[in-house]
Amino acid sequence: MADKLRAFVCGHPVAHSRSPLIHGNWLKEHGIEGSYEPRDVAPGDFEAFIGGLAGGLYAGGNVTIPHKESAFRLVDRHDAAAEAIGAVNTLWIEDGRLYGGNTDAYGFAANLDASAPGWDREKTATVLGAGGAARAVVHALKSRNMGEIRIVNRTLARAQELAAGDGRISAHPWEALPELLADTTLLVNTTSLGMKGGGELSIDLDPLPSAAVVTDIVYVPLRTPLLAAAARRGLKTVDGLGMLLHQAVPGFERWFGVRPEVTPRLREIVVADLGAGA
Ligand code: ATR
Repeated sequence: MADKLRAFVCGHPVAHSRSPLIHGNWLKEHGIEGSYEPRDVAPGDFEAFIGGLAGGLYAGGNVTIPHKESAFRLVDRHDAAAEAIGAVNTLWIEDGRLYGGNTDAYGFAANLDASAPGWDREKTATVLGAGGAARAVVHALKSRNMGEIRIVNRTLARAQELAAGDGRISAHPWEALPELLADTTLLVNTTSLGMKGGGELSIDLDPLPSAAVVTDIVYVPLRTPLLAAAARRGLKTVDGLGMLLHQAVPGFERWFGVRPEVTPRLREIVVADLGAGA
């Protein structure tokens, strides 16, 4: 076994990833002699990269865009979250086999636990979007026993597919939003709208009850137009950076053997880096 524990994040491109900053800070904080390195792996090289991991240099690593679904197909074993979501963001080697897990749903829920306790059980969530990110969010909402989950998407068929087979979940077109918002306790944006360089997300938040929580998984910009509009209405808002920080915790613990903490200091470091890159 190598004396220094090594982990990676693989993506394409990967230069924008804040994961090396997050894990690098935890390594320093805990005095662990390890490394966490970005690996730019083009789609055509991904299968070979995955194939070389068991028995290779690394204890494991993260998988980001565009490899999460391919990783799901290529690993030897999945954890329950990856199975439910159909995508893998965390890899580790166990008994010589490559395991793929998904910590995005965990990160989503842990972020709300930290910033909006009481957001979960038997409440009513409205989720904007039905892509890969929405799959993780819906899995988290189901696991935390939301009473009702509504998926609203431009392409209704994708929302219907995600809602299929669970009586708590329903699918709706964008036009249904005003009516749905009236009894929503948690509004989640999982679309790329509102992201720097993405389209505009303009919805009228007036129908939302005053106790509603609004969260966005987009974190560039940190204060998305949706969150800004919710804050103007006096609603509780939770930004998407916390999800990124919390989803990193289980991976670090697996590779390096210490459960790290998401602290205000870590958040400040990443916020400063996002500011520098803006
Ligand atoms: P991800 O894996 O990040 O969720 P994705 O699978 O491409 O990415 O999904 C993007 C989501 O944003 C989808 O719900 C998409 O809606 P469609 O399913 O109708 O494509 C939504 N989205 C992206 N651009 C949009 C736009 N201009 N208007 C409305 N929804 C949009």
